[in-house]
Amino acid sequence: MSEVTPVTVKVGLGDRTYDILIGPGLLSRAGSEISLRLPGTRAAVVTDDNVAAAHLETLKAGLAKGGIKPAVITMPPGEKTKSFAHLEEVVDGVLAARLERGDVVIALGGGVIGDLTGFAAGIVRRGMNFVQIPTSLLAQVDSSVGGKTGINSPRGKNLVGVFLQPKLVLADTEVLDTLPIREFRAGYAELAKYGLIDRPDFFAWLEQNWSKVFAGGPERVEAIAEACRAKADVVARDEFETGDRALLNLGHTFGHALEAATQYDGARLVHGEGVAIGMALAHRFSSRLNLASPDDAARVEAHLRTVGLPWRMADIPGELPDAEMLLSFITQDKKVSRGALTFILTRGIGQSFIAKDVPASEVLSFLKENHPGQQGRRGQQGSCPG
Ligand code: GLY
Repeated sequence: MSEVTPVTVKVGLGDRTYDILIGPGLLSRAGSEISLRLPGTRAAVVTDDNVAAAHLETLKAGLAKGGIKPAVITMPPGEKTKSFAHLEEVVDGVLAARLERGDVVIALGGGVIGDLTGFAAGIVRRGMNFVQIPTSLLAQVDSSVGGKTGINSPRGKNLVGVFLQPKLVLADTEVLDTLPIREFRAGYAELAKYGLIDRPDFFAWLEQNWSKVFAGGPERVEAIAEACRAKADVVARDEFETGDRALLNLGHTFGHALEAATQYDGARLVHGEGVAIGMALAHRFSSRLNLASPDDAARVEAHLRTVGLPWRMADIPGELPDAEMLLSFITQDKKVSRGALTFILTRGIGQSFIAKDVPASEVLSFLKENHPGQQGRRGQQGSCPG
């Protein structure tokens, strides 16, 4: 197996500073990396059935090299696992394994397993050590970094949880080889997001190198490392999202509304795809408000289309609710103050900012103009080169 030296990105949070290691073969090194930081620890691994089938034996062998023989807690795959019932199962599994507060709970999986496991680690024995081993691209560049954990409530997604920074993140880039292409692409949208927020050179690099990122190898490692550096910078300056961390929501306001409008039906739209369309819409909306050049919106749309991501509402299969209904999903999701909304908008590629006073009426007109069933498929289509 590969013995490539991983790239290390530090998340600088004082005495809670931790490393993200990125590279191939890290599952096999997990035992030595964890016992280096948490000597003598015992462990529980939380995973799901699919990830367990693909990667659990490799991880167990890797942990054994560091003298760690973990208890294993396996959950069903899917978003429904982020529930109180499954939280209770994880908590019970950790307690049944008789782990102490100084021991470690390891999440092996995508965003669902990472969020659920982190929450359990945050509350069992008033807080245990936590290690993230993300196995999807989306989890490697977003959800495993920065300490947000939690489950869903019947009243909405991610409404119950805690901030708990992990002690270590191991992003094994080799495990991404087994991801379905659609899932890899969806994670790529979150990766490209960092270029669009404040790293224009990274976005330009992705425009040139995206196919190598998809193929694997050093470009994939470098792209994930750059995304983690970008996220680590934001988290280090605003851990609890009182300001700048909201920039990470670029594309998420429109994206969440489209996910809700498609009833979270993954056959029609998965989260990263919603973010892709949302980022394209955020750029197009910024140009409509004369904040940014339409050329920048066209550039974003072209790149998303080139990598095979959906980039406009018309790319979502099936009918969408009308623009008024889409706006109501947005206003349900967000605080509305005297008819004004908070959005992440942009002055150009890599120049995103938090806009606190976006008139709901402007959003509605924009949605109508871009809605495939209301104003036809004009506008955006003609603007995209190639
Ligand atoms: N996924 C957004 C954040 O970590 O703040």
